[in-house]
Amino acid sequence: MLRVINLVVFTAAFSTIAHRAAAVIPVEGFGQTKDGSQVKLWTLNSKGGLTVRLMNRGAAIVSIEVPDRDGKKADVALGFDDVAGYESPDNQYFGTIVGRYGNRIAGGKFQLDGKQYQLFTNDGPNHLHGGDGRSLDKIVWQAEPFESGGQQGVTFSYTSPDGEEGYPGNLKMTVKYTVSNKNEIRIEYAATTDKPTVLNLTNHAYFNLAGHGSPTINEHVLRLNADRYTPVDETLIPTGELAPVADTPLDFRQPTAIGKRVDELTATSAKGYDHNFVLNRDGAAAGELVEAAVLVDPKSGRTLTVLTDQPGVQFYGGNFLKGQAGKQGKTYAHRSACCLETQVFPDSPNNQGKEGWPNCVLRPGETYKHTCVYAFGTAR
Ligand code: BGC
Repeated sequence: MLRVINLVVFTAAFSTIAHRAAAVIPVEGFGQTKDGSQVKLWTLNSKGGLTVRLMNRGAAIVSIEVPDRDGKKADVALGFDDVAGYESPDNQYFGTIVGRYGNRIAGGKFQLDGKQYQLFTNDGPNHLHGGDGRSLDKIVWQAEPFESGGQQGVTFSYTSPDGEEGYPGNLKMTVKYTVSNKNEIRIEYAATTDKPTVLNLTNHAYFNLAGHGSPTINEHVLRLNADRYTPVDETLIPTGELAPVADTPLDFRQPTAIGKRVDELTATSAKGYDHNFVLNRDGAAAGELVEAAVLVDPKSGRTLTVLTDQPGVQFYGGNFLKGQAGKQGKTYAHRSACCLETQVFPDSPNNQGKEGWPNCVLRPGETYKHTCVYAFGTAR
């Protein structure tokens, strides 16, 4: 009898310890921002061999280690070794959340309910990725690591006060990252406001599936699930038209090497690939995930599939990378990585109500929701 009781006590104690141990997600210091905030780095692991590091500054992805077809791991995301790198002028939003309005707003101006708003213009005449000093990539977010159903994650939260960076409304946001055992990074965004506002949150991870610091993505093969794109003017503001990709270098409906036609775009205002694609949702319900993109590195066999419930994806081919020093002494050459940013279309605030253009206005009582899945795999 005594032995049975002991066993029960032992089992209960052991399962408590095991449970607690499993819930611990390693966290380490990552430096201090110039204004004295402590930045931390969490390491998340999946049973499938994916290791992802996230930091609270910018609620950002710092690294993504993923196996190739032979099980050999490489870090496929661009980044820096500490927070000082992210605060340097060489930072081009590596891995961060961008917003409140990711992408461009023409002249930094928009009208909402008859009221005119003026945002900071940090990209020539336009507003880009939420503005200047208090854009979301620069904020140190609250972080709550979690483990649920054998999967690890971190939920970041931040309330942007009314008027911050010129945007109306106290905007309460959460960005929940989950690293699944199927080697996916699932990013779930949610936001509410107390005044009507405009919003477009996205993640700005740069990928090179051969490993960060590899010299080019020209041999990566891309498929985009888009028949149309939003053509842009000289300052990368959409003209309002939704044009067919057919017979242009933007036609990725069949898997095509990125380098095959990129030089046809070098002399354009985009300077290469830097376009918003209108995703084919083919009657998918609101909130339903559809495949946006499939990126394959034929050499390593690593693949990345992007799924989203958003209407667009910005395919940015790293045209402004300039050989800056990144993690572990690697350098990041021109066009050596790409971003696939799930989003509403650029400058949607100035195209509301136009045929085919998505809503980007959030009103009190509504909840903004956006899911993006970066699913890693291998191909033979
Ligand atoms: C934009 C580029 C911009 C880059 C900045 C991308 O999302 O499309 O035009 O230069 O972000 O890192």
